Amino acid sequence: MSKISIIGAGNVGATCANAIAHMNYASEIILLDIKQGFAEGKATDMMQSAKQYGFDCNIKGITNDYKATEKSDIVVVTSGIPRKPGMTREELIGVNAGIVKEVIENVLKHSPKAVIIIVSNPMDTMTYLANKITNLPQGRIFGMGGALDSSRFRYYLSNELGCAQSDIQCTVIGGHSDTTMVPLISKATLAGEPVTNLLKKDKLEEIKHNTMIGGATLTRMLNTSAWYAPGSSIAMMCKSIILDQKKIFPCSVYLNGEYNQKDICIGVPAMIGKKGIEKIMNFTLTEEEKEAFNKSAEAVKKTNSVLHDMNLI
Ligand code: NAI
Ligand code: 2OP
Repeated sequence: MSKISIIGAGNVGATCANAIAHMNYASEIILLDIKQGFAEGKATDMMQSAKQYGFDCNIKGITNDYKATEKSDIVVVTSGIPRKPGMTREELIGVNAGIVKEVIENVLKHSPKAVIIIVSNPMDTMTYLANKITNLPQGRIFGMGGALDSSRFRYYLSNELGCAQSDIQCTVIGGHSDTTMVPLISKATLAGEPVTNLLKKDKLEEIKHNTMIGGATLTRMLNTSAWYAPGSSIAMMCKSIILDQKKIFPCSVYLNGEYNQKDICIGVPAMIGKKGIEKIMNFTLTEEEKEAFNKSAEAVKKTNSVLHDMNLI
């Protein structure tokens, strides 16, 4: 029996529920939203596709009643507003910080042992807020951003190399931000061969740039932010928890000196299992990557300081 609750039944939350159902590893999904009847509608629609997609899990929609989320193994937080074209993720803090704080408090009343994944933006700062107000062990509350950014990096690399995405290994660390995330070119490989041996430096720089602005590019096209790749990235992380797979994803984790950073949540490679983040992977970075990571951490800390100004922590 495994139960996953998703708070926020909008584009990302509902797509995540759908992806989890299709992957067929959870027995129960609760979709909760504040909009009257909205989560119920999405859940019922998905349930009416169960036979077609061959899944057996039960998806239930709820309007703002946290009792239904009781004893969840995982809670995913996608509630809040998404960005519009021209907006940064950081600009969402004024609205989303209050929502995330209230949601976390409600979630923990009913599922004190759940692993919590934060998605709402600005995600690194929302993950930091959730860690600060709860004081749970390191790795119980972490954020999804790097898994999505890595999937965009993989897409751009595979397009240029004309190869299957599944043969590419690549990682993006740092803050989930257009200007400071760090696609690790030194670690990207095609079937084990470093991409630095396969593509010219200026092409790799172009791929890195496209990866960094990947979210903004889609927001311009869609007039809101993306949901398919975000939803499926969260579903893969939940799968590693429920099945205790110990897969490695870049996640926004509260750091206690790892990667030379303290008192911050930021994307680093981490092993995900039953208990949440079970290990932070201490990978070697080039000097250039270390410098970019530190710059990214400074930017995240600056956004975090707004939480103090708002008297939330
Ligand atoms: P959306 O607007 O489609 O859905 C958000 C939902 O949250 C709405 O249905 C709304 O009614 C609900 N909501 C608002 N306040 C709530 C509350 N107090 N309790 C329960 N539900 C509440 O937005 P979308 O596209 O699903 O994005 C959600 C969030 O995820 C945004 O902040 C967005 O920026 C972020 N995001 C983060 C990504 C990441 O990689 N970390 C990727 C994509 C989006
Ligand atoms: C994305 O990267 C906006 O965080 C959202 O698509």
